[in-house]
Amino acid sequence: MLSVTGGTKIFYGGTLDERRALDGLDVSLKPGDFCIVIGSNGAGKSSFLNAVSGKLPLDSGRITIDGQDVTRLNAHRRAQFIARVFQDPMIGTAPTMTIGENMLLAELRGKPRGFSYGLSAARRQKYSQQLAELNLGLEKRLDMQVGLLSGGQRQSLSLVMAVSTRPKLLLLDEHTAALDPRTAKLVMDTTVRAVEALQLTTLMVTHNMEHAIRYGNRIIMMDAGKVLVEIGQEEKNGITVADLIERFHTKSDAIALQGA
Ligand SMILES: Nc1ncnc2c1ncn2[C@@H]1O[C@H](COP(=O)(O)OP(=O)(O)OP(=O)(O)O)[C@@H](O)[C@H]1O
Ligand SMILES: [Mg+2]
Repeated sequence: MLSVTGGTKIFYGGTLDERRALDGLDVSLKPGDFCIVIGSNGAGKSSFLNAVSGKLPLDSGRITIDGQDVTRLNAHRRAQFIARVFQDPMIGTAPTMTIGENMLLAELRGKPRGFSYGLSAARRQKYSQQLAELNLGLEKRLDMQVGLLSGGQRQSLSLVMAVSTRPKLLLLDEHTAALDPRTAKLVMDTTVRAVEALQLTTLMVTHNMEHAIRYGNRIIMMDAGKVLVEIGQEEKNGITVADLIERFHTKSDAIALQGA
């Protein structure tokens, strides 16, 4: 479904400040995989998602989605089949527009010109149904300005908007990190429901080890722009946070020794 081979992105190459954000990254996802991405600050997790979405063009390497080579396709073109939710609840939605207008924007994303643009009664009904699943009462507030919602409500709306177009790939970059525990759980529950109902292939970055264990069917640990450890479905069952941390340290120590 998604394949990244030899993904490399270097900032300030050839200078003392050189940063290898991605350094020969190889990742392959099967359709319906819900893959959790973990790793320290600066490991390259966001760069990985940015490379997949097209926001960060690779220096070298190749990305295919559903067998189609998208390496040279810009972010706008890739938006037809990729949806994202970011850490900052303020990013995914337009504050001066209403909830209904925001959902319409999401529906029109990547659609050809000539598509019907109005907020018709049929659309309003469809959006209300999608919002009702959140249990936040937003389905009754289609005409309310998004800027008046709380961070958690906005993030929930961003998620509904992201999945409403049934993307081939859903990219979540610490999308619950800025939320209080109760709201984070609500957004995660919505995430899991949507991923399962729509069989979305998903990459989710998190620093929350409990979430890494509880959600998804695979874990990728990144370090220095590449995959350090991969944990598959079977191995993931029954794994503990302590096991995860040990796997990470054993592998990075082994690499440090090789380099010594
Ligand atoms: N636009 C940029 N310009 C310069 N350096 C960058 C840029 N984007 C990323 N980097 C560098 O690339 C490396 C990887 O950054 P990235 O944001 O992908 O890490 P991350 O794993 O998402 O970290 P975090 O957990 O802090 O979000 C870092 O060293 C970072 O400083
Ligand atoms: Mg990041």
